[in-house]
Amino acid sequence: MTDSKIDFNRTFLTGNEATYIGDALASRSLTGDGRFTQLASAELAKITGSTKPLLTHSCTASLEMAALLIDAKPGDEIIMPSYTFVSTANAFVLRGATPVFVDIDADTLNVDPAAVKKAITSKTTAIVPVHYAGMSANMDNLAAIAKENDLWLIEDAAQGMFSDYRGRHLGTIGDLGCVSFHGTKNIATGEGGALLINNETLRERAEIIREKGTNRSQFLRGDVDKYTWHDIGSSYLPSDIMAATLLAQLEDGLEITRRRTSIWNRYHEAFDKLEADGFVRRPRLDVGATVNGHIYYLICRENSERDALIAELRTQGISLTSHYVPLHSSPAGERYGRADGPLPVTDRIAGSIARLPIYPEMENQLDRVVAAVEKFFA
Ligand SMILES: Cc1ncc(COP(=O)(O)O)c(C=O)c1O
Repeated sequence: MTDSKIDFNRTFLTGNEATYIGDALASRSLTGDGRFTQLASAELAKITGSTKPLLTHSCTASLEMAALLIDAKPGDEIIMPSYTFVSTANAFVLRGATPVFVDIDADTLNVDPAAVKKAITSKTTAIVPVHYAGMSANMDNLAAIAKENDLWLIEDAAQGMFSDYRGRHLGTIGDLGCVSFHGTKNIATGEGGALLINNETLRERAEIIREKGTNRSQFLRGDVDKYTWHDIGSSYLPSDIMAATLLAQLEDGLEITRRRTSIWNRYHEAFDKLEADGFVRRPRLDVGATVNGHIYYLICRENSERDALIAELRTQGISLTSHYVPLHSSPAGERYGRADGPLPVTDRIAGSIARLPIYPEMENQLDRVVAAVEKFFA
């Protein structure tokens, strides 16, 4: 039998991207904050409930803006999970601040609020939870800790599009929320992101930082008759071509999420028995969190078993993959950050997690993935 290859991830196109990009090109107006940026921002506002979200060229850019907005500086400590992507930490390291890595909760794989609390010192200025796999961290507890200790709360909601926590879209709960539209994400524009501003005191400066430190946004709105340099900043806005792609993706976002979530649910049901028999652990959600089908993972009993699972399925053309190398044990993490004590859950999960293929258009391949996983453990 010649089985076709099942990729781990594949960017889904709605069909309208080319039309909108064509319109943007035809307008000869491709710079940032053009017509498609306005349309896509309005759509994003409608979906998330965020007032006037700012499109950026990546979630990395959004995180860097967040670090600038909270004036992160040398001596500041920023608490975050070690089990995350490098951008969560890099954004603050670029400002000279120190990431303090804490452990994750063994059930949700999100930052453990008790570990966050324990890591707070007089130097701590912010907490940065990451909504792993698009399933919310315990935002009630984290918000309470941030409030009690007068800390900024910045959500790394890179994976969080179309996912909620107690009815609020991810990224709209902390002071700031950073989302990603990278090609691997549910809503994908190749590179792309947005900054959701939930603390109104940060809005005016955010617009300035995003526009190279100038008040160009006020100028474009007609609020001032010329624009000039007001603050430090960089070029964080995307071209209108990216925004055209984003509009098409967002307009179909509910359907994309429905398809991904349905695959997630089918995996979850299929692996119920493997979990009951003690072979794997399936994802667990915090109370109030929802699923957007960004990642489906299984936690194996041993690292070697996970490696063997990935290797065996690869021989059958099915791409499973591990995930983050914990930041506290990476060369730059050791140089620029510090771990708040040992992080045993992070180390265990990093060695034993396997992520399964999940994207629209793989529905008819799903049974083959499930059968191959079941056979491996049989
Ligand atoms: C948790 C997390 N944070 C930040 C990022 C960076 O996103 P981007 O590629 O849009 O810069 C990613 C991307 O994979 C991520 O998973």
